[in-house]
Amino acid sequence: MNVEYNSDYSAAKYPNVVRNLFMKLSTLYLSAAATALLTASVFIVTTVAQAPQAPAAGTASTPPPQARPNRAPTNLQVLPKDTTGQQLREIMAQWNGALGVQCNACHTEDTKNLNPNGKSRLLCADDSKPEKNTARTMFKLTGTINQCVGKIGSTGTQVSCGTCHRGHLTPEAFAASPVAELRPPQATPTAGTTPEK
Ligand code: HEC
Ligand code: HEC
Repeated sequence: MNVEYNSDYSAAKYPNVVRNLFMKLSTLYLSAAATALLTASVFIVTTVAQAPQAPAAGTASTPPPQARPNRAPTNLQVLPKDTTGQQLREIMAQWNGALGVQCNACHTEDTKNLNPNGKSRLLCADDSKPEKNTARTMFKLTGTINQCVGKIGSTGTQVSCGTCHRGHLTPEAFAASPVAELRPPQATPTAGTTPEK
């Protein structure tokens, strides 16, 4: 999924994959439940002695044990308020990659509340790490840049966090070599050397 950093940043841009999946699952659940009921009643009518062997209605919608549902965010100030937990997770993962950091670069760790793996859980709605607020400013800045870039109406290339950060929390200084412009024109290739293609 590509996060778009522009002024009309909107959750509507996300494909409704999550919602659709939910609908599918709930339809599946309902039909499974209906089938179970029907099967059960048929069994009861035909043979009272035989216990109904209806499939467990819940199986279809039971998520795999690993996948914990992403809770809906409560403290969004720059991202759209209706951003779902899943969308947020994807955006956050992109920020991790763009800045070459882990989630705790911006989010406070709850050192008294450990995951099964022994790592502290994160207090994601908490705003005490300055990096989190910097990231908010950065998000707005990126939107403003893209507004300007959009007015040029060129290739549609968007600036993202990674455009500047390139895998570093603090963007590395870039100094173009001033020598390049002062260098005398390249000598013409000597006879016998094949110019590179
Ligand atoms: C570069 C800083 C940064 C990194 C890295 C980052 N986040 Fe965030 N996160 C933010 C900011 C800023 C917000 C608030 C956005 C807003 O105000 O709209 C946020 C919000 C959240 C929220 C919503 C909290 C709430 O209830 O409002 C969750 C959950 C979250 N992040 C999880 C994560 C996870 C998980 C990771 C790692 C995969 C991560 N974040 C990495 C900056 C970051
Ligand atoms: C136009 C370039 C540019 C873009 C785009 C950009 N940043 Fe930055 N960002 C910077 C610069 C430059 C700094 C360093 C400022 C300083 O020296 O304190 C910085 C600093 C930060 C910091 C603080 C780092 C620290 O050392 O504490 C965070 C966090 C951050 N950016 C997050 C983001 C996120 C998240 C995005 C995308 C939503 C983003 N930035 C987009 C240029 C950019």
